[in-house]
Amino acid sequence: MSNSPGSVELGLPALPARPYPPQVHDRLAADARELIARYPVVRSALLPLLHLVQAEEGYVSATGIRFCAEQLELTTAEVSAVATFYTMYRRRPAGTYHVGVCTNTLCAVLGGDQIFAELKQHLGIENNETTEDGEVSIEHIECNAACDYAPVVMVNWEFFDNQTPESARQLVDQLREGREVRPTRGARLCSFKETARMLAGFPDERDGAVDESGAGGAPSLAGLRLARGEALPGTSGTKVVSPRHEGTDA
Ligand code: FES
Repeated sequence: MSNSPGSVELGLPALPARPYPPQVHDRLAADARELIARYPVVRSALLPLLHLVQAEEGYVSATGIRFCAEQLELTTAEVSAVATFYTMYRRRPAGTYHVGVCTNTLCAVLGGDQIFAELKQHLGIENNETTEDGEVSIEHIECNAACDYAPVVMVNWEFFDNQTPESARQLVDQLREGREVRPTRGARLCSFKETARMLAGFPDERDGAVDESGAGGAPSLAGLRLARGEALPGTSGTKVVSPRHEGTDA
């Protein structure tokens, strides 16, 4: 079997993967060159390249794995090992909107398990499946580091805080109806593929979107304020926790 230009012959059986059509390959290869040039070692660009191919197809396909391996002079086994380790790389196509429901401990006990169960029933799909219209896929995910807003749902990695089964159902309904939906924090939503391209390292070119990213919310900053010995808003003003070195020479 002949290999495409730039591929590495390692004596291993080729993946049963077709290459991208020439036009797609050339476009992605130009993007890949731009990403690879940002790193001193070629293989260090693997994570961005996986996002790049995910932006093309909505998941990391065997073709995408082959492409990454060829661009980075890695084996397809090496690329597969990384792509299957990180859960942000999908192995099945995502919907236009990929909905992640946190079912880790805190979110689960505060309603995440129920939200996930009711969303599956409402959408008529199971974990990692996509609605027939291709608009919404669903996945249970582990802690999003947003426990202070539990239970949390994410759409294309943007946060929807303090959800309930009802608010989550409304959310997916609005997504399927094509209505503009804004996350609790962060920029307005774009498609899963567009998000993946940004994660690859290309800029968000939507007007004003970068300024919509916001900052840490009050629940996230509460611990920091307490650690500094500051009173929390709405309290009597009494310090709850002393600064670590208060009253010492340290
Ligand atoms: S447990 Fe859900 S965000 Fe941490």
